[in-house]
Amino acid sequence: MSESFLFPDQLAAYYAKVALREPPLLARLREETARLPSAQMQIAAEEGQFLDLLIRLSGARRCVEVGVFTGYSSLVTALALPADGHLLACDINPQTTAIARRYWAEAGVADRIHLVLAPALQTLDAELAKDEIGAGEGSYDFAFIDADKTGYIDYYERCLRLLRPGGLIAVDNTLWSGSVADPQQRDPDTQAIRAFNEHVRADQRVDFCLVPIADGVTLARKRWGLEPKEKNGDAQACIRRAACGVEHIAHRDVRRLDDHRVGGRQQVAGHEIADGLGQGRLGGRMPALLARFRIEPGAGGEAGQDSQCREKANSTLQCACRSTAIHRNSSSKVAASRRSAVSNPSVNQP
Ligand SMILES: C[S@@+](CC[C@H](N)C(=O)[O-])C[C@H]1O[C@@H](n2cnc3c(N)ncnc32)[C@H](O)[C@@H]1O
Repeated sequence: MSESFLFPDQLAAYYAKVALREPPLLARLREETARLPSAQMQIAAEEGQFLDLLIRLSGARRCVEVGVFTGYSSLVTALALPADGHLLACDINPQTTAIARRYWAEAGVADRIHLVLAPALQTLDAELAKDEIGAGEGSYDFAFIDADKTGYIDYYERCLRLLRPGGLIAVDNTLWSGSVADPQQRDPDTQAIRAFNEHVRADQRVDFCLVPIADGVTLARKRWGLEPKEKNGDAQACIRRAACGVEHIAHRDVRRLDDHRVGGRQQVAGHEIADGLGQGRLGGRMPALLARFRIEPGAGGEAGQDSQCREKANSTLQCACRSTAIHRNSSSKVAASRRSAVSNPSVNQP
């Protein structure tokens, strides 16, 4: 544990003794980073452990990180992801990220991380502009922001758009060693963090908590029902979002369940979409899958059709949620869900 401005020394020593379980590779990265003049930029060990837990708890599969440095938080993230997980990592420094790359390779997770060396806003905007299924807006599960403080509100806004509903943003340094509470401190970074903290507190698009761990970590969870109103002709966008949601649900449950193909075509279609997306070969099967959901590709050109399409996309998600939830409980419920599959046409009929 790094020196704490939150804990008295005795408690900090006790915390360090009982609360930390840093894997040897991460400890080695911490030691190597400690030799750099900018070592204080690295996140604390307890924060890494906290992020690891959040990523595992949320079942995140697609993550974005703003601010890599020597790679501690990105290594934590990649290690907490499933084997098919993906981390988009943003930084501008080729020297420090060369250290990061070395550790990613040693941990065997380099193939899960896509590092882009460019100003993060540029990278996030390019990601938001992607319109293929499984990428772009609404396609990420988790974001970690830890770069230049004056960019925090912009990074947060971009990450919020990249997240699916229910996705989580974690933002580092939001207590800034206590300077945020000191009216004498008026430097740009402190002012930017104060502005950010107020921005999140006022933001009704998220549920949030400023957690007093390490240097302060703000967690913001994107609420449901915030999708922008679709314009005419944007039917494909809602299909894409529905598919991303189904993909997330299906991927999570594919990892947990053996017998998940029973109990309704909606669920099977969800898994097929997930399989297709995972293997990058959705191609020609998409129209058939969408037909099962009664979502017509290309619909939405005329007034009124866009809202119909949104409804269909939403009900697709609800059906997928409902049918996977039935299966999640226990294998004994599979029989019940089979019965419900027969008797509940709203879940099963295309
Ligand atoms: C506090 S460090 C990140 C620490 C890292 N999360 C860790 O666990 O060690 C901040 C990083 O943000 C990067 N950075 C600063 N401005 C940036 C920008 N405009 N775009 C992308 N990265 C930036 C810096 O190069 C630096 O590596």
